[in-house]
Amino acid sequence: MSSSNLLFFSLTLLIITLSPIPNFASPSLEEANALLKWKASLEIPKNSLLSSWIPLPLNSSASVPCTSWFGVVCNSDGSIQKLNLTSSGLMGTLHQFPFSLLHNLVHFDLSVNNFFGPIPPEIHLLSKLVYLDFSLNKFSGVIPPEIGNLHQLTFLYLSLNNISGSIPSSLGDLTSLNVLYLFRNYLSGPIPIEFGNLKSLTDLAVNENQLNGSIPSSLGDLTSLNVLYLYHNYLTGPIPIELGNLKSLTRLDVSFNILSGSIPLSLANLSNLQLLYLDWNKLSGPIPIELGNLKSLTYLQVAVNQLNGSIPSSLGNLTSLNVLYLHTNQLSGLIPTEIGKLKSLTHLSVRGNQLSGFIPSSLGDLTSLILLYMHNNELAGPIPSELGKLKSLTDFQVNNNQISGSLLPEFGNLTQLRRLNLS
Ligand SMILES: *[C@@H]1O[C@H](CO)[C@@H](O)[C@H](O)[C@H]1NC(C)=O
Ligand SMILES: *[C@@H]1O[C@H](CO)[C@@H](O)[C@H](O)[C@H]1NC(C)=O
Ligand SMILES: *[C@@H]1O[C@H](CO)[C@@H](O)[C@H](O)[C@H]1NC(C)=O
Ligand SMILES: *[C@@H]1O[C@H](CO)[C@@H](O)[C@H](O)[C@H]1NC(C)=O
Ligand SMILES: *[C@@H]1O[C@H](CO)[C@@H](O)[C@H](O)[C@H]1NC(C)=O
Ligand SMILES: *[C@@H]1O[C@H](CO)[C@@H](O)[C@H](O)[C@H]1NC(C)=O
Ligand SMILES: *[C@@H]1O[C@H](CO)[C@@H](O)[C@H](O)[C@H]1NC(C)=O
Ligand SMILES: *[C@@H]1O[C@H](CO)[C@@H](O)[C@H](O)[C@H]1NC(C)=O
Repeated sequence: MSSSNLLFFSLTLLIITLSPIPNFASPSLEEANALLKWKASLEIPKNSLLSSWIPLPLNSSASVPCTSWFGVVCNSDGSIQKLNLTSSGLMGTLHQFPFSLLHNLVHFDLSVNNFFGPIPPEIHLLSKLVYLDFSLNKFSGVIPPEIGNLHQLTFLYLSLNNISGSIPSSLGDLTSLNVLYLFRNYLSGPIPIEFGNLKSLTDLAVNENQLNGSIPSSLGDLTSLNVLYLYHNYLTGPIPIELGNLKSLTRLDVSFNILSGSIPLSLANLSNLQLLYLDWNKLSGPIPIELGNLKSLTYLQVAVNQLNGSIPSSLGNLTSLNVLYLHTNQLSGLIPTEIGKLKSLTHLSVRGNQLSGFIPSSLGDLTSLILLYMHNNELAGPIPSELGKLKSLTDFQVNNNQISGSLLPEFGNLTQLRRLNLS
């Protein structure tokens, strides 16, 4: 080192030493320079706030990235703790990302950008990560099994990407997880049995993938779950009885799969359920009378299955229901009068069954109804004049039944009606 350089070096040291923020030591400089290398590999929109990420002059305070770089937060030692680049219009890969340097990263958010390419296995080097959000990008390749080493992870969002392959069973080691979102990818293969270890999970969403195999009964161990979304996959086999253990569940959606067997009675124990979607499967047998216990339900959809037997009158106890879809099954018998107690109902569809008897006049009490589908059944008799009270109705279809009599003048008051099919 020349003497002038030495002098400069000593001065720099002095400046750093005398800096008013004594805790900022060198780590952030090293980390920041590594981030700059990564930045150089990215496509960044003009006027991006990332322009605050500037090469640091030698005499600069080491705290610069901590205090003036967009999306960067440091810990008290001046090491980068949080990187939040959500919705920044960034495009690029993680090939140059300094996984091996950012040991202290706790919060990592790249959501809503155009990142592509694989998620490198080196991600496991970020061993203090609590929050990882890569959702809404174009990441592809597989979920690296090494993610299972991030034992502090509480939030893992990989949804809305182009990720394929099967879900690594190592995700079952992430026992601190509260939220696991893998929805809208191209994941295939089974839901790992090991998910049953994720006892702190409140939200599990693997919907809109290509998962197959059966729903593991171990999911019944996830007793903190509020939300379980398995819809739009290729899941087969029965709905496990054990799901009835998930007492905190408010939303259960297994629709659009190939599930078979009957609706387990145990579901009637899910007293906090607000949303129950079992539609578009191959479920058979009856609608359990016990579903009438689910007093919090606002959405009950069991349409497009092979359910038979009659509509239980107990459904009339579900007075919070907004939507009741029972259509396209093999339901027979009468429409229960008790359905008229569902005063909050806006959508009622029983079309495409084998329902018979008269249309109950109590349906005239469903004054919030917007949609009423009863077509393609074996209903008989006149349309009750009480239906003239359904002032909000816009879509009413009862065609393909054995309806007799002519349309009553009361229907002149249904001014919202846009579609009426009685043929
Ligand atoms: C660092 O050096 C530049 C010139 O190279 C000077 O303009 C600037 O004021 C210096 N900054 C500090 C914090 O000393
Ligand atoms: C991340 O950054 C966005 C804006 O860029 C901000 O709205 C959001 O609150 C930040 N998240 C956290 C956890 O700091
Ligand atoms: C998504 O991944 C597939 C391979 O799995 C690849 O062929 C395709 O180009 C990717 N699409 C995008 C938008 O990255
Ligand atoms: C799941 O799909 C894969 C092909 O993607 C197939 O090899 C496997 O046998 C399927 N498993 C089940 C249980 O259907
Ligand atoms: C519902 O829960 C109760 C008490 O936890 C239990 O005894 C009963 O067997 C459950 N019912 C069903 C159908 O699983
Ligand atoms: C419902 O279908 C099953 C076969 O899936 C049959 O055994 C049963 O008798 C049917 N029940 C009624 C009420 O039609
Ligand atoms: C539920 O409905 C059934 C049949 O309509 C009725 O007998 C029963 O008393 C109702 N139970 C409650 C708790 O409201
Ligand atoms: C239409 O509604 C008005 C008031 O809402 C009522 O007086 C009248 O009788 C109704 N007409 C028919 C045909 O029901």
